[in-house]
Amino acid sequence: MKNLIVYSSKGGNTKKLAEELFKQLPEDKDIAPVSTAPDPGKYDVVCVGFWLKGGQPDPAAQEYLKNCTGKIFLFATHGAAPGSDHAKMALNKAGELAANATVIGSFSCQGEVSAKMMETAANKDPQPPWLGDAPAAKGHPNTSDFMELSEALITAGLKTKAEKSTGSMVS
Ligand SMILES: Cc1cc2nc3c(=O)[nH]c(=O)nc-3n(C[C@H](O)[C@H](O)[C@H](O)COP(=O)(O)O)c2cc1C
Repeated sequence: MKNLIVYSSKGGNTKKLAEELFKQLPEDKDIAPVSTAPDPGKYDVVCVGFWLKGGQPDPAAQEYLKNCTGKIFLFATHGAAPGSDHAKMALNKAGELAANATVIGSFSCQGEVSAKMMETAANKDPQPPWLGDAPAAKGHPNTSDFMELSEALITAGLKTKAEKSTGSMVS
C-alpha cells in the first residue's frame, strides 16, 4: 500500500503533525506540502492535513479537498478544544468538500495559537468561539496527541498495532 501525506500549514503545527504521521505510517509513503503535492493517482490513500480558519479547513486545503478522489484520511490542528463541536463541524465540512472521495478516518488536535493571533481574535466582536480554548493549545501538538493519532491510524487500517508506538515497534 502506498500512502501520500499532503498538508497545509501556516505556523508549523499541522506540518509537525504531518511529519509525525509520516513517521508512524509503514512504508511505502511520500509527504508534501499542498503547494507541491504530487499526482495523487498513484497512491492508495491520501492523508490530507489542514488548520482551521473561520471554523473551516484553511483555503489552500479546501481547494485540494475538492479535487480528491479515492480514499482519504483527514487530519487537522485547531485552537478549539479537541472533540469540540467546532472541531467536529470543521472535519465534517472537510468531508463534504471532498465529495468525490471516501473518508476512511480522521484525527484532529489543538495547535498552539500565537499570542499575536489571540490578541487579534480577542479584539473581534463577537470573539471567535474557539478563543476560550486557545490558551490550552500551548505546546500542542505534543506526544500525547501523537499517541492518539496512532490509535486513529490503527482504526483507519493504515497501520497495525505492532507499529503502535511513535516511530518504533512495541514488544
Ligand atoms: C487567521 C487564523 C484563524 C484561525 N481560525 C481558527 C478557527 O476558526 N478555529 C480554530 O479552532 N482555530 C483557529 N485558528 C487557530 C489555528 O487553526 C491553530 O493554531 C492551528 O494549529 C494553526 O496551524 P498551523 O500552525 O499549521 O498553521 C486560527 C488561527 C489563525 C492564524
